[in-house]
Amino acid sequence: MTEAAGPVLVFDSGIGGLTVLREARMLMPERRFVYVADTAAFPYGDWDEEALLAHILALFERLIEDIRPVCVIIACNTAFTLAGAALRARFTEMDFVGTVPAIKPAAERTVSGLISVLATPVTVKRDYTRTLIESFASHCHARLVGSRYLAALAEDYICGIEVSDKALWDEIAPCFVEEEGRRTDIVVLACTHYPFLANRFRKLAPWPVDWINPAEAIALQARRVIGRHGGADAISGPNPDFAVFTGNASPAMKRLMQGFGLSVAPPA
Ligand code: DGL
Repeated sequence: MTEAAGPVLVFDSGIGGLTVLREARMLMPERRFVYVADTAAFPYGDWDEEALLAHILALFERLIEDIRPVCVIIACNTAFTLAGAALRARFTEMDFVGTVPAIKPAAERTVSGLISVLATPVTVKRDYTRTLIESFASHCHARLVGSRYLAALAEDYICGIEVSDKALWDEIAPCFVEEEGRRTDIVVLACTHYPFLANRFRKLAPWPVDWINPAEAIALQARRVIGRHGGADAISGPNPDFAVFTGNASPAMKRLMQGFGLSVAPPA
C-alpha cells in the first residue's frame, strides 16, 4: 500500500487565497487542502520588506513541519514576489506554486496597449514585478498602482462590513488612464484579495475593462506540479479540509471559512 500524500497547503495573509482554493478544489477534488491565513501579520502590504521576508521564512519552518504538505500554493502575490525564491532555496524538497502579477496575459490581450497592475505597495516595489513588465510588457504602457487599503477593505466587505464606493474608488481610480485617445483596457488584479471586490470595481469603472484574476491559472499550475507526485491521498470522512489562522480571526471570518467547507483549527 502506498503511503498517503500530505494535503495541499494554500497560504495567504488572510482571505485572499480562498479565491485560489476555490479553483484548486474544483480541479483536484481528490486532494485534501489545508488553508493557512497569516492573520497575525495581516496586512502584508504594510510591512517592511526584510522583516516580512524573515517572518514568512520562520513561519514556514513551523508550517511545513506541522502540516507536511505534498505541495504549497503561495496564494499571495506579496508573499511570493518577496519570499518565493528564498522559500524554494530553504525548502529544497518542497514544491512551491507561486502567484505573480498576471502581466504576461495582460500584455498579450491588451488592444489599447495601456494596462494597469493593481497590487499591494510591497508587490509594486518588487524587482520581480518590474522584471515581469520588462520581459513581457515592454511594448505596453504598464501602470503600477499600489493600494494601501484594498486588501483590508476586501476582508471587511466579504465579512459583511459596509465598504463605501468612495473608499474603493479612491484606491482604483489611478488604474484608469486616458492617453492620446487610448484608454486602459486591462487591470491586473495582482493581489488575491481583490477578486472578491471585482463586481464592485466593475460598477465603479468609468469605462469597461477586463479585470484579470489569475486564480484558475495558479490552480492549473498546481495540478500539473502535484501530478508529478502520482496517486492522491485518500479523503477520509465528509469534511477533511481545514483552515488555520496564525492569529485572531473574527467570527465572520470563521463563518466565511466554514462557508468554503473548511473546519477551523486552533491557532498555529
Ligand atoms: N492577498 C495578498 C496578495 O496577493 C496580500 C494582502 C495583504 O496582506 O496586504 O498580495
